[in-house]
Amino acid sequence: MKCLLTADLHYALPQLDWVRAVAGRFDLVVLAGDLLDLASLVEDDIQTLVVMKYLQRISAESRLLVSSGNHDCIERSAGNEAVATWLAAAREQGVLVDGDAFQQDGVLFTICPWWDGPETAGALAGLLERDAAREKRRWIWVYHAPPDQTRVSWTGKGYFGDGLLLDHARRYAPDLVLGGHVHQAPFRAGGGWVDRRDRTWFFNAGRQIGPEPAFVVLDLEAWNATWISQAGRAFLDLSAPWDPEHPPPTE
Ligand SMILES: [Fe+2]
Repeated sequence: MKCLLTADLHYALPQLDWVRAVAGRFDLVVLAGDLLDLASLVEDDIQTLVVMKYLQRISAESRLLVSSGNHDCIERSAGNEAVATWLAAAREQGVLVDGDAFQQDGVLFTICPWWDGPETAGALAGLLERDAAREKRRWIWVYHAPPDQTRVSWTGKGYFGDGLLLDHARRYAPDLVLGGHVHQAPFRAGGGWVDRRDRTWFFNAGRQIGPEPAFVVLDLEAWNATWISQAGRAFLDLSAPWDPEHPPPTE
């Protein structure tokens, strides 16, 4: 299974066009949050309408998995936490979204919503508990925020990651976690597009301007990952031993 991972498109329509154009080359496409942009001059309801149209078109080309990011949470829950309920409408187009699971060839994908407080964090914990009980060969989470204190959450000045994700990953030991959120991480000294804790690999392709997003191609049979961005390209054999001091070089 060949997967495309990108995130943080932030309503960059040329980048959404690019995803649509290449989606057919992959068995699965993952958009790991922040499809919308809260700072955009375009109104939220217009953004969701346009993004929904893109999701429909991309899912016509490939299996599409979409998680919410903080920028997508434009609504409030009963407990007054930020949520992205608008995304659920994409299910009608066959898109897998927050709270959904997808299984193929023994690989289980769990799509985790952004959490904003105790209510949404509780829902997330319940979701992981649900899918922990499922039989699987490998477990992959789509989860917008990167884990705290890792290369993929390094901004260049400090870590800006999710401590709760580290707790969950320690408990459930997923194989891969596909995210984004900290746009600069892969482009700063001390940061990276991939890091590892225990047996879990964490990915963050980063955000770049221009018509093509930074992205990671995951080959789940060969068990490797390739990061491609304007800064270059890097390859990682996920079976090889991980040296935290020497992450894969960018060419
Ligand atoms: Fe973002």
